[in-house]
Amino acid sequence: MSDFNQRIVAPSLLAADWSRLGEECHRAIAAGGDWLHLDIMDGHFVDNISFGPNFVKHVRNTVADVYLDTHLMIEHPDQYIRDFIEAGSNNITIHIEPKYDIGGTIAKIKKSGISAGLALNPATPFELAEPFLEQIDILLIMTVIPGFGGQKFMEEETMPKVDQAKRIRNEKNLNFHIEVDGGITPKTASIAADHGANVLVAGTGTFKAEDMSISIKELREA
Ligand code: DX5
Ligand code: ZN
Repeated sequence: MSDFNQRIVAPSLLAADWSRLGEECHRAIAAGGDWLHLDIMDGHFVDNISFGPNFVKHVRNTVADVYLDTHLMIEHPDQYIRDFIEAGSNNITIHIEPKYDIGGTIAKIKKSGISAGLALNPATPFELAEPFLEQIDILLIMTVIPGFGGQKFMEEETMPKVDQAKRIRNEKNLNFHIEVDGGITPKTASIAADHGANVLVAGTGTFKAEDMSISIKELREA
């Protein structure tokens, strides 16, 4: 059983300077980042296009031992699982909103030996995730509408879901991290952590901070 009180800070490479990708990965880890978060966007599921498996592979080759948390914001996640596993992901999180075999896709991720996460957009009710909670390692409660960095944390829409997730995890003795992603600053991290989130994804709040070590420390201690 993992320790869900342990805070994990995952800098999102979406906000990094990609012209110096290797240096940026090392900078995030040296500043105290625990995981690196990789946002995959296809221009269909979200209104933005980011990067694909080759980018993840490049990150993997740069930081051999770092936990890579791959967040698929794509219309057909089931078709790309193999690519992102081969690229070196340690976790693959898929969204619940597109139409595909969610249970089967989670099973495929788990069968490969890595961990699996399930993500919910701010407007998606928690109940839709319930059938899959026993299968997953991470429940990602999106705290912004996915697609872009630098947006405002949506407290009212999302924190009740963090409460529900924590309650059901306790009641059913389940074993998944609760991750939040979008608009995470020391202030919103403290709100999310009070509700029960322990994995904090931050792009703007890390890579764009004046001093990344200080900002990661603040997120960890918020
Ligand atoms: C949003 C992405 C996030 C994004 C967060 O669609 O899933 O991971 O990088 O960026 P910030 O921390 O700037 O809100
Ligand atoms: Zn993300």
